[in-house]
Amino acid sequence: MRKRILSPSILAADFAGLGSQIREIREAGAEYVHIDVMDGLFVPSISFGMPVIKSLRPVSDLAFDVHLMIQEPVRYIEEFRDCGADILTVHYEACEDVAGTLRAIREAGMRSGLSIKPKTPTTVLKDYLNLCDMVLLMSVEPGFGGQKLISSSYERAREIDQMISASDLPIDLEIDGGINLDNVQQVLDTGVNVIVAGSAVFKNPGYNTRQFMKILNQSQL
Ligand code: DX5
Ligand code: ZN
Repeated sequence: MRKRILSPSILAADFAGLGSQIREIREAGAEYVHIDVMDGLFVPSISFGMPVIKSLRPVSDLAFDVHLMIQEPVRYIEEFRDCGADILTVHYEACEDVAGTLRAIREAGMRSGLSIKPKTPTTVLKDYLNLCDMVLLMSVEPGFGGQKLISSSYERAREIDQMISASDLPIDLEIDGGINLDNVQQVLDTGVNVIVAGSAVFKNPGYNTRQFMKILNQSQL
């Protein structure tokens, strides 16, 4: 079974105290921090970019799980590596050359992630699995935190889990959007092993991370 990991999304954090909140989630057991970069083009909102990631790097040894919601991310791969990304995830829908982009991420020394939006067929992933260290299934339309999980995501997660198992490749399956303490068990049951949670963590980062970790560790047994 793939290792279960919590990746709290700082999009829901209080940006005035990012460093201390990241310390809190780490002490409570999170192993990744999920960093949502939005360009106002691929998605309607603009979040933050390299300078914010760069200033967080010295304050945390957590793996930086950077989710790029930007058009043609291939333009910025080295920059994201240089500011401290460990995992760099791009959107299938945002790349003209998906394979070339994933290859470039690995060549730059990062783990590569490929994400699909809720309406993109899961079958598009098949051709790229050999170039991915992680698949990120969006369970809400990307762009905003605090939305409700789209219920078809459970079935989609199962499909991807089967695809990954059949490939026999060591690929993590991450899900992002609308995950909370009430639905996380159902999500884990699909085979997903990396859980992104924004609003469900950052209302009370230390406490909520511990609650999530209890469930992740329990079902691991
Ligand atoms: C949405 C982002 C998510 C978001 C999740 O476009 O990719 O990572 O921050 O937030 P919640 O957990 O509040 O749905
Ligand atoms: Zn995200």
